[in-house]
Amino acid sequence: MAFNILAIESSCDETAMAIINQDQELLAHVVFSQVDEFEKLGGVVPEMASRMHEEKIFEVYDLTLSEANLTIDDIDAIAVTYGPGLVGSLLTGINFANSLAYLYNKKLIAVNHMQGHIAAIDIDHQVKYPMMTLVVSGGHTDLVLVNSPRDFEVLGSTLDDAVGECYDKVARLINVGYPGGPVIDKLSYEGNDTYTLPFPKNDDTLDFSFSGLKSACFNLVNSLNMKNIELNQADFANSFQKTVVNILLTKLTMAQEQYNCETLAVVGGVSANSLLKTEVLKKYPDAFFPKLKYCTDNAAMIAMSGFHMYQNNEFVEGYVNAKPTITVEDKWID
Ligand code: KG4
Ligand code: ZN
Repeated sequence: MAFNILAIESSCDETAMAIINQDQELLAHVVFSQVDEFEKLGGVVPEMASRMHEEKIFEVYDLTLSEANLTIDDIDAIAVTYGPGLVGSLLTGINFANSLAYLYNKKLIAVNHMQGHIAAIDIDHQVKYPMMTLVVSGGHTDLVLVNSPRDFEVLGSTLDDAVGECYDKVARLINVGYPGGPVIDKLSYEGNDTYTLPFPKNDDTLDFSFSGLKSACFNLVNSLNMKNIELNQADFANSFQKTVVNILLTKLTMAQEQYNCETLAVVGGVSANSLLKTEVLKKYPDAFFPKLKYCTDNAAMIAMSGFHMYQNNEFVEGYVNAKPTITVEDKWID
């Protein structure tokens, strides 16, 4: 049966919408990023982010429908991110979705943003399950065994900071800008691996730790400052990136050796990292990465997850509310 799903994403600093149809075709994909605003400030200011979502959401909605050449009458369900994320940001998209569903009598689907990142793989790949998935973003670092499109099992997680957060904090420490991931990624190619950094939680578990790496970076910069030695930013970026990729690849390899999954994938904002992609593909040439535009936050991945949920009859009975701290495994419960 024919259907169209309108997906809404506003969990952090991207206001995004997309439309997907019954054939899994994306009919529209619009992302408005607030990153230019937060670049000046060195990070996301939650209250500003909510206000900017509110200012942009109607424009993004109009653009999305017109890109698909559809009206709201052609939409059968609204899929919206309900968590994890910043509560004020989430609520902007959620209120919009609840209102559309109420006014136009549409079905509602509450999408877990992290399951959205995983679904990003399905946009361009035919996946064979189980899929060993490294989920790396600004708020999460998880190894997830995906048994089917709606069955997620977390095998290991960060015990403290997320890898993207570590990139952002370290970039701020060495004053190279925000968001730190893309800046350090680019800068690393101008330098050499000269600084020695630690591999925290280098043990036989599938858990990660990044706060120790972050602290080591802070200590290194402080001790150079005290000795009046200038930090070579590019060399430091190179050493940091190599350390991070070594940690991620080591744990991903350990997980894959244990589970020997049919498919291997890397998703989330940090999956846009060039060295991570190169090194994972060197070891696992068939590994899947989302297209770059679907690595960082977007609504196409929410639409794709909403598509799986539509097929699985996972609809919201009442209205959606924000759940800012859910894990990858969590599903909406009315
Ligand atoms: O998935 P995402 O857009 O938002 C969250 O759900 O958190 O991820 C954002 C994170 C940021 O920390 C950003 O620095 C990081 O992804 N990131 C990267 C790269 N591009 C974005 N990290 C490393 N290398 C990149 N090229
Ligand atoms: Zn995200």
